[in-house]
Amino acid sequence: MDHNSPRSGTVLARAGGLTALKRLGNKIVVITGVSAGIGRASALLFAEEGATVIGADIDEIQGAEVEADIREAGGMGYFVKADVSKQKDVANLFVKAKELGGVDVLFNNAGVEVVKSLPDTTEEEWDRSVSVNLKSVFLCIKHALPQMEEKGKGVIISNSSAAGLVGSFSPSYSAAKGGIISLTKALAVDLGPSNIRVNCICPGAIETPMLERVIEMQGNPKKVRERRIKNYPIGRFGTAEEVAYTALFLASDDSSFITGAVLPVDGGFTSR
Ligand SMILES: NC(=O)c1ccc[n+]([C@@H]2O[C@H](COP(=O)([O-])OP(=O)(O)OC[C@H]3O[C@@H](n4cnc5c(N)ncnc54)[C@H](O)[C@@H]3O)[C@@H](O)[C@H]2O)c1
Repeated sequence: MDHNSPRSGTVLARAGGLTALKRLGNKIVVITGVSAGIGRASALLFAEEGATVIGADIDEIQGAEVEADIREAGGMGYFVKADVSKQKDVANLFVKAKELGGVDVLFNNAGVEVVKSLPDTTEEEWDRSVSVNLKSVFLCIKHALPQMEEKGKGVIISNSSAAGLVGSFSPSYSAAKGGIISLTKALAVDLGPSNIRVNCICPGAIETPMLERVIEMQGNPKKVRERRIKNYPIGRFGTAEEVAYTALFLASDDSSFITGAVLPVDGGFTSR
């Protein structure tokens, strides 16, 4: 079935029978920030669902481990070392995607926490937050688009944050994540006619190395956790896999009529 084309008929008839149920079969997927947390969980899940995964990260040791884990499980995975806030590295990443047949799905997941009030934020910290969290999304989309346009279809997913929807501990992080939400809507309108869907995910607190670092920074991790969990109607933080399954839904044809969506994955945090 063609990517992004309208769905009709039963699941089995559409998929071509029981043997063809993998949701990302024959798809080339680029995932940024693949070496840890949500990126790692998404890479493993997407590969299990039949995708060829090209993962990018600055951490090449853990990136190589993700590549090895995918291959050991019988999947197709490639790691490319890239700082996605740098145009040269992003261009190189998409050369790899082109070699493998061109990108079908881009998951802009790389991000960095800058936990500072505005008066305490230095110019360098502001630039780092905006470069890694927002400029990287612009650069990756810019380099993915020619390949998607050539294919006449594509899917772009970006990891924003609940901190892009409501006030947070860090204005520079919130500003960058809010920028992803606006960019998603602008591009959904612009790229709809090109059959390219653009959506973003707004996770609440998710159990990853990033969350551990943020909690550590605030001192007394046990107390900070207890206090923050009280803001989660579901009564816990999320897991990287829960975000990965959301990204899988948005990446697959199961969401073929969804574009411009800003989807909280936050156990009810932003509904309070
Ligand atoms: N964990 C949370 O609670 C949470 C909540 C909301 C949003 N998010 C967002 O989800 C995404 C993933 O977060 P996570 O919790 O898995 O983070 P993480 O820190 O556990 O993993 C992020 C990965 O991104 C990589 N990375 C950082 N800077 C990079 C760069 N310049 N180029 C390439 N790779 C880079 C890191 O090396 C790391 O492997 C981020 O965009 C984050 O802002 C996370």
